[in-house]
Amino acid sequence: MANRVLLCPPTFFEVREVKNPYMRGLLPVDPVRAQHQWDTVCEAFRSAGFEVELIDPVPELEDMVFAANPVFVGHRPPQAPFIVPGRMRYVSRRKEVRHFVDWFRARGYKIVELDLGDDFLEGHGDLIWDADGSRVWAGHGFRSTIGGVEKFAAAMRPMEISVIPLQLVDEHFYHLDACFAPLRPGSVLIYPGAFSPESLELIRSHIPRVYEVDREDALNFVCNGVSAKGKFLTPSSTHCVREALAREGLEPVVLDTSEFLKSGGSVCCLKLFFD
Ligand code: ARG
Repeated sequence: MANRVLLCPPTFFEVREVKNPYMRGLLPVDPVRAQHQWDTVCEAFRSAGFEVELIDPVPELEDMVFAANPVFVGHRPPQAPFIVPGRMRYVSRRKEVRHFVDWFRARGYKIVELDLGDDFLEGHGDLIWDADGSRVWAGHGFRSTIGGVEKFAAAMRPMEISVIPLQLVDEHFYHLDACFAPLRPGSVLIYPGAFSPESLELIRSHIPRVYEVDREDALNFVCNGVSAKGKFLTPSSTHCVREALAREGLEPVVLDTSEFLKSGGSVCCLKLFFD
């Protein structure tokens, strides 16, 4: 498990353009509340035992606060840690990528460039390490394309990192991190309605303990919670979720991220784990 987490301050965060169903209201962001909520998220990672590092926010890049999306971070010792730059579906987010690439390059990370062509790949919004580090689950359908995921999988093969594509079928769960949260090695919290039947079967056949939430919990972004050293940092929690967490020995920490939910994001989207 990573010990460090990268976050981007919400200085220029806004809801400007509809990129997902949660943004349809184009609800104005309260910058003071957003800053306060983001500070609380930072603090929650620190108290869970993570070292928090920051990337400078860039004017006009209103979604850069969602640090999970522009790049994928990987490590297969003895090889050097690396990143895979993504290609964002919305033009307004494409410029974020190079700022993250520069940040990681300055820290010695190898850059694994893919020739994505017309395909899209949205970093850890869609590419999620299994809790045991054995494989990467790869969502596609709304943001990342199947072509992007296949190109990513091909680049991971020489490093013996296996990638399992999962087809997303409900636009409210447009990124995999909106409906799939690894808890512990061998367990995951999911919203089953977000997946095609074949993809759901893949999850169930590979992960021994699959906890399912209902649509209401899922729309409250509970699957965007993050399992972090014995805690589960989440925007919401219900009896059913608390029961699953208790079985996995995870303590829920509920964080108000209402300003970021206006943009279709919460705790998981705000962070990028690395080591
Ligand atoms: N407004 C952002 C977008 O639609 C939200 C991104 C949320 N990030 C995530 N990892 N789900 O692109």
